[in-house]
Parts: sequence; C-alpha cells; structure tokens
Amino acid sequence: MRSAFEWVDALPSSIALRESLNAYPTLLTTHVVSMCLFAGLIAFWDMRLVGLTLRKVPVSNIPTRLFPWALTGYGINLITGGLLLYSQPMRYYDNFYFWAKMALMAVAGFNMLWFHYATYKSVQAWDQGREIPMSARLAGVVSLALWAGVVVTGRMMAYAGLMPEWWNNLNIGA
Ligand code: HEM
Repeated sequence: MRSAFEWVDALPSSIALRESLNAYPTLLTTHVVSMCLFAGLIAFWDMRLVGLTLRKVPVSNIPTRLFPWALTGYGINLITGGLLLYSQPMRYYDNFYFWAKMALMAVAGFNMLWFHYATYKSVQAWDQGREIPMSARLAGVVSLALWAGVVVTGRMMAYAGLMPEWWNNLNIGA
C-alpha cells in the first residue's frame, strides 16, 4: 500500500497539482460545497426514516426527488476528494483520520446497501403510514451517525498534530 502511495506522490501530474496555487483551495471548496448538497439531502432522507420530518410524504416519493441531486453531490464529492488525495498522497498515508473516514464511508455504504436490498423491499407496507419499522429507523439513525463521523474525520484530516497517541506509536509513516 505504501509503495502505491509513494508511486502516485512522484507522478508529474500529482506534483503539478500539489504545486499549483489555485488547485488545492478550488478542489477543497468544491469538495465541501458538494458535500453539503449530498450530506444535507441524505440527512433529510434519514430524518424522514427516523420520523423527524416530512412525515406526511410517502417514503417512496422521496428517492426520485432527492436522490438525483444527492448522487450528483456525491459524484462531485468523490472526484474532488480523490483529486485532493491524489495531490498529496503521502500527506494522508499516515493520517489516522483519513483511514477512519474511509472506513466510516465503507460502513455507511454497507448500511445503504442493506437498507436498499432488505428493509426497503417492504416499503409498500409502511409507505403511507406514520409508523416506520424499527429496522428502517435504525438504518436512518446509523446513517446519520456514520455520515456525521465522515464529516468530522474529514475536517480532522487537516490536523496532523492531533492524531491519537496510540496511532502515532504505530509509526506508520516511518
Ligand atoms: C473518495 C472519497 C473521499 C476522499 C478521497 C476525500 C479526501 C479528502 C481530502 C484529501 C481532504 C483534505 C483534508 C485536509 O484538509 O487536509 C478532505 C476534506 C474533507 N472531506 Fe473528504 N474525501 C472523500 C469523501 C468525503 C465525503 C463523502 C465527505 C462527507 C460527507 C467528506 C468530507 C470532508 C470534509 C468535511 C473535509 C474538510 C474540509 C475542510 O477542511 O474544510 N469527504 N477530503
């Protein structure tokens, strides 16, 4: 894994991105704005599942309206995040919060898939009702917590001096 990061770090396009004055702030700003679009809309959906908002709107009406925008935000977010990483891979290789963020994103992805392929299958039974099944509520709460974790760890990535002590002791960057 380390050699892959080092290889990218030495690529001329990675160096050019790193040395450009405007690229990093432009990418980071776009990353944050697209995150707002994506995470904001997903939070709305999760809050509907939990029963905190839009309670009179049938659950199955929401995806077609919200998800194209949420996916657009997510796509831009992944591309800009990938380019930020591409521009300074060795800065993030030993960054605890980077790996924590990737792990949280993976778990959030599993939660989404589980919800989609298991819980959502029975949506017709609870679509109109005010009572959302516990499995759907749980998926909503877990999703809110995981995406909040992704946002927090994303922000924390900038603070190389604030990695946990036990992580520093692993000496991954050495
Ligand atoms: C492929 C996926 C992603 C990659 C590779 C990625 C990578 C990055 C990188 C390299 C940074 C810069 C960290 C620094 O300031 O040093 C960053 C910042 C950040 N990312 Fe991501 N990211 C991804 C997805 C996401 C997602 C899905 C979210 C939230 C839903 C997110 C939220 C954030 C936040 C809040 C920041 C901090 C912005 C700031 O400093 O103001 N990222 N990300």
